[in-house]
Amino acid sequence: MPVITCIDDLKRLHRRRAPKMFYDYAESGSWTEQTFRENTTDFEKIRLRQKVAVDMSNRSTRTTMIGEEVAMPIALAPVGLTGMQSADGEIKAARAAEAFGVPFTLSTMSICSIEDVAEHTSKPFWFQLYVMRDEDFVDNVIGRAKAAGCSALVLTLDLQILGQRHKDLVNGLSAPPRPTPRTLLDLSTRWRWGLEMLGTKRRTFRNIVGHAKNVGNVQSLMSWTAEQFDPQLDWAKIRRIKEKWGGKLILKGILDEEDARKAVDVGADAIVVSNHGGRQLDGALSSIRMLPPILRAVGDQIEVHMDGGIRSGQDALKAVALGAKGTYIGRAYIYGLGAMGQAGVTRALEVLHKELDVSMAFCGRRDINDVGRDILYVPKDFEGEWQDA
Ligand code: GLV
Repeated sequence: MPVITCIDDLKRLHRRRAPKMFYDYAESGSWTEQTFRENTTDFEKIRLRQKVAVDMSNRSTRTTMIGEEVAMPIALAPVGLTGMQSADGEIKAARAAEAFGVPFTLSTMSICSIEDVAEHTSKPFWFQLYVMRDEDFVDNVIGRAKAAGCSALVLTLDLQILGQRHKDLVNGLSAPPRPTPRTLLDLSTRWRWGLEMLGTKRRTFRNIVGHAKNVGNVQSLMSWTAEQFDPQLDWAKIRRIKEKWGGKLILKGILDEEDARKAVDVGADAIVVSNHGGRQLDGALSSIRMLPPILRAVGDQIEVHMDGGIRSGQDALKAVALGAKGTYIGRAYIYGLGAMGQAGVTRALEVLHKELDVSMAFCGRRDINDVGRDILYVPKDFEGEWQDA
């Protein structure tokens, strides 16, 4: 078993063990990848305030997200094609999250279906929905999520059309991979991945295949989104989905104060300040940078979560200290999954927890619920001064 000390160790292994097209899919931003990069580099600009000679015993990172108890304020974000990073990847990730006590969110664009994950877990998970043109499919998938006992619906608002990721185009991303000479050569060096994949029946988008009418080329995320995602999604449709679902609703992809207010108006339970991991609108501000203005706009009316750029427990601590009630990791657990399957996801969670817990203690806090902005040094110009249009 390799020694894993940080998320970067898992990333290196993931790169070696998973097929290039899937590693690249995870490790991509759109166009120039500026937003993807700044999601992480903006975290580095915020520093922590050291405190000494305070009792650091009996620490706790336990808190709640949308009223659910969590072992730490870090949930697993919805990630498409997770079951291509490692066979049955969504089941493995959900099981690791469940054992650790943090929420797992299943993507609409997952390989394992809602039913597959429900069958292999015992606690409720969250389901992420993309709004499709086909309302019957949307209603049906909401019904399936209810039947599976999902405890929250995470509605993603920033991917009705797909941002262009150059690497996916070059690699011909598809699930399962098409057998071209290039992919076959790459797969020949990923024998462990291939053997596991041969041993599972879950190799395509099982939330969709067999459930959606007129399924076109579902193998390709790009053509599927172009054909099926509803580019006319608006707040009225969001209200319709909220009513249809009837349970806890999290709106993901909020990066603007006015949109945050609209999310409050529709009665969402939480918002996720997110730029989709820098995979959609390149040139958007980083999530951590947009967190404070959005908190100022709606922080007293709705739970505010964030994702984008979290690669360490310190990053999560900074987001919580700024006021986020919860954070999400995507790549940080996907690296673990691609590196070592379920054990790798568990290892990622352990690494993040330790970094969060120890850093919190160095800042003189014993309880994550007592962490506030006063443990941070935030540069004066952190949010930037932008001229309104
Ligand atoms: C899907 O969620 C993607 O970002 O590829």
